[in-house]
Amino acid sequence: MCGIVGYIGKKEAVTVLLEGLHHLEYRGYDSAGLCVLPSAHSRKRRASVVRSVGKVDALVDLVSKKNVSGFVGIAHTRWATHGRPSVANAHPHSVGNIHVVHNGIIENYQSLREKLIERGCRFRSDTDSEVVAHLIALERVKHDFETSVYRALSKIRGAYALVIVCDDDPDKMIAVKNSSPLVVGVGRDDFIIASDVSAIVQRTKNVLYLNDGEVIVLSRDGEYSVCSLNRLVKRRKPQVIDWSPEQAQKGGYEHFMFKEIFEQPHAVVDALRGRVVISDGLVRLGGLRSVEDRLCQIKRIVIVSCGTSYHAGLVGKYMIEEYAGVSVEVEFASEFRYRKPLVDKHMAVIVISQSGETADTLAAVREAKNKGALTLGIVNAVGSAIARETDAGVYNHAGPEIGVASTKAFTSQLSILVLLTVLLGRGRDMSFVMGQKILTELERIPHLITSILKREKELRVIARAYVKNDAMFFLGRKYHYPIALEGALKIKEIAYVNAQGYASGEMKHGPIALIEDGFPCVFLAPKDSVYEKTLSGMEEVRARGGRIFAVSTVGAKEVSSIADDVFFIPKTLEMLTPLLLVVPLQIFSYHVGVMRGLDVDQPRNLAKSVTVE
Ligand code: M6R
Repeated sequence: MCGIVGYIGKKEAVTVLLEGLHHLEYRGYDSAGLCVLPSAHSRKRRASVVRSVGKVDALVDLVSKKNVSGFVGIAHTRWATHGRPSVANAHPHSVGNIHVVHNGIIENYQSLREKLIERGCRFRSDTDSEVVAHLIALERVKHDFETSVYRALSKIRGAYALVIVCDDDPDKMIAVKNSSPLVVGVGRDDFIIASDVSAIVQRTKNVLYLNDGEVIVLSRDGEYSVCSLNRLVKRRKPQVIDWSPEQAQKGGYEHFMFKEIFEQPHAVVDALRGRVVISDGLVRLGGLRSVEDRLCQIKRIVIVSCGTSYHAGLVGKYMIEEYAGVSVEVEFASEFRYRKPLVDKHMAVIVISQSGETADTLAAVREAKNKGALTLGIVNAVGSAIARETDAGVYNHAGPEIGVASTKAFTSQLSILVLLTVLLGRGRDMSFVMGQKILTELERIPHLITSILKREKELRVIARAYVKNDAMFFLGRKYHYPIALEGALKIKEIAYVNAQGYASGEMKHGPIALIEDGFPCVFLAPKDSVYEKTLSGMEEVRARGGRIFAVSTVGAKEVSSIADDVFFIPKTLEMLTPLLLVVPLQIFSYHVGVMRGLDVDQPRNLAKSVTVE
């Protein structure tokens, strides 16, 4: 995710800004930039704007070659969402005397951009952010700086944190928060504003967290005021935090993995943002627009990916085949690239990759392209190799995932696969009513995940009972079989448990031989179309003395009488249950790993992005 830093006060802004950017580097980014307004006694009238691709150190180098001085400035690390990493797409975006840094997504940027172009505005980047600078600059012709910002804000929709400065009102900085984080560090006679408290804590522990829909105006004489978007004054006071810089990077959580598990409601919201048209039961995926017609003719899909992304693909197969009626195969990229896959121009190969750089998946894309298939990517890292090489695709917008174990990327991938199912289905036989039903329920998922996260302590207690087990089964049927695989992968990776995931119907064909007194089995047993069958499997394990931890849905009474431990999740549509079921498994694995004293963020032998074969 992008990072923002702003400074206004009595110190050299550039020093504070670059220090802040360095503290945001852990979040991942592809380019950086800053803008410093000239001080009153300077002969310069316009801001110095410096931007570069790559690391913050490249920006430091560039800045050192220029005469950048002043007490007010904004800076940014960009993690591309709209437009590839480039100097032109890096922030700040400047139009006239207005300079803007932005985190988040402006949902209606396309229509705004078209209108602005009609009014004669010239765009220099591919970003959604540049529209904000144009809107404010147009208003500034007739209004003061503050009014111009408010008037521009009334036209934009989406998630954003914005910090704005203006050459001809140089002692002021305006910031606004709407669904993207923004924190203000309140110093003795200055302010540092940032998207993440880790850019602030080394300067001050006195911070003011902005709420959604709040605008703050900071001035160089140390005054600030907070207002709502309709300019009603709000009384807001700073609070003291005692986080170390390292704790601050993890948002106060002990590990990145845990933080990312808790970011899942947001990750799902961001995956859906601007893509769902409930009233028509339709989905709009801008990245697939160019291939939509071809996609509607496709008779066969192969999903190719690795690890957790492969498990997402398996869930996608169940969804697409059941609701869109298109035949789907799912294959490990490492197999696909070396065997002789039957691929032709009448089919689509969908690759799923968080990093967008996985060597096997990239090789699979090239193989599929050579054979004339339509290649589509579901990728989190914008501008990554897979995103560049596929014919079209959908970005996750889940923000950087730092923990090696994939968590929020997975729920985000599932969300996009649901969107794809509805897109493919509505282009075929799926009714408006069914489209609307799936999408309405999908929009409830972030709230349902939040309700699971609130009960995280129950899972900690359950995890304690399994911490000494070195082997485990994860069992699920139909939609939950891939989640059994994912649960097993998670605990294998971060707790080094020899866990195996099975389709529960397969138990009696072999694995049941391993069940003996106390052997742990995690059953995925929501009350769905295969509930009774899952209960039979649980009975078979219990009859042989196995210990059962079941994840089920509220109201499934039978489960409690068979299992030793139960965690209940809320009810949703069967096809969406994987989005909920996986969350307790992630938390369970996390606690087992932590209780075993392991480094859950960087497990042994693993890399976040597997760029070698
Ligand atoms: O970046 P990708 O989604 O292509 O990565 C695929 C796998 O390497 C990845 O999912 C891996 O299995 C994770 N460590 C799982 O937690």
